[in-house]
Amino acid sequence: MSPMPDADLPAMFERMYDAAAAGDGALPWHRGEAHPLLAAWAEGLRGAGRRALVVGSGTGDDAEFVAGLGFDVVAFDVSPSAVAMARRRFPGSTVDYGVADLLALPAAWSRAFDLVVEVLTVQSTPIALHEAAIAAIAGTVAPGGTLIVIATARADDAQVPDGPPWPLARAEIDAFGTAGLAADQVDVVRSSGAPPRYRAVFRRA
Ligand SMILES: C[S@@+](CC[C@H](N)C(=O)[O-])C[C@H]1O[C@@H](n2cnc3c(N)ncnc32)[C@H](O)[C@@H]1O
Repeated sequence: MSPMPDADLPAMFERMYDAAAAGDGALPWHRGEAHPLLAAWAEGLRGAGRRALVVGSGTGDDAEFVAGLGFDVVAFDVSPSAVAMARRRFPGSTVDYGVADLLALPAAWSRAFDLVVEVLTVQSTPIALHEAAIAAIAGTVAPGGTLIVIATARADDAQVPDGPPWPLARAEIDAFGTAGLAADQVDVVRSSGAPPRYRAVFRRA
């Protein structure tokens, strides 16, 4: 992905999903399965009778994985073509896929979800919007609920990139732990061939 004006970002994602659907481009983040850091963390987790929200759900693999754990899942993306692709890929899905902007979430989602899954979405927004995006995600976690965040890590002393993406500094990860959310674990995971990733888990009392 190359540098571009902030206002073009939703349009950029839409073009990328359209091109991929037409067989004319790749989605660098598409894995065809749940993110391995999410899958490993969720081992043994059961969601029957509980609600989950998947942020920036892209092609749908994380949402389907969470639904497979038994959660009632709402999944959203700013790109209508991403939502269409997820629905096409999983025609019999129980996931409620929809188009929404992280920075203008429905009021009904406030503190409404027992599990919130954020994978690589905040870093796909311009750095000036991170604070609002982080607060919006944190605000969807219900009392007693859990938030898992997976994000590319940016060293605190590293120059802010032109982006996209705009990887998250430690202070930004810590910012999820405000307004009643407390950090449960924050790991930096390093694996060969991939940039370092944060996997951070927060809980609301
Ligand atoms: C790098 S992709 C990651 C997709 C998915 N989470 C995954 O890991 O496969 C970032 C996603 O965030 C979506 N996105 C970007 N800005 C958004 C916003 N303001 N609200 C909701 N989704 C957004 C993009 O359309 C894209 O699907």
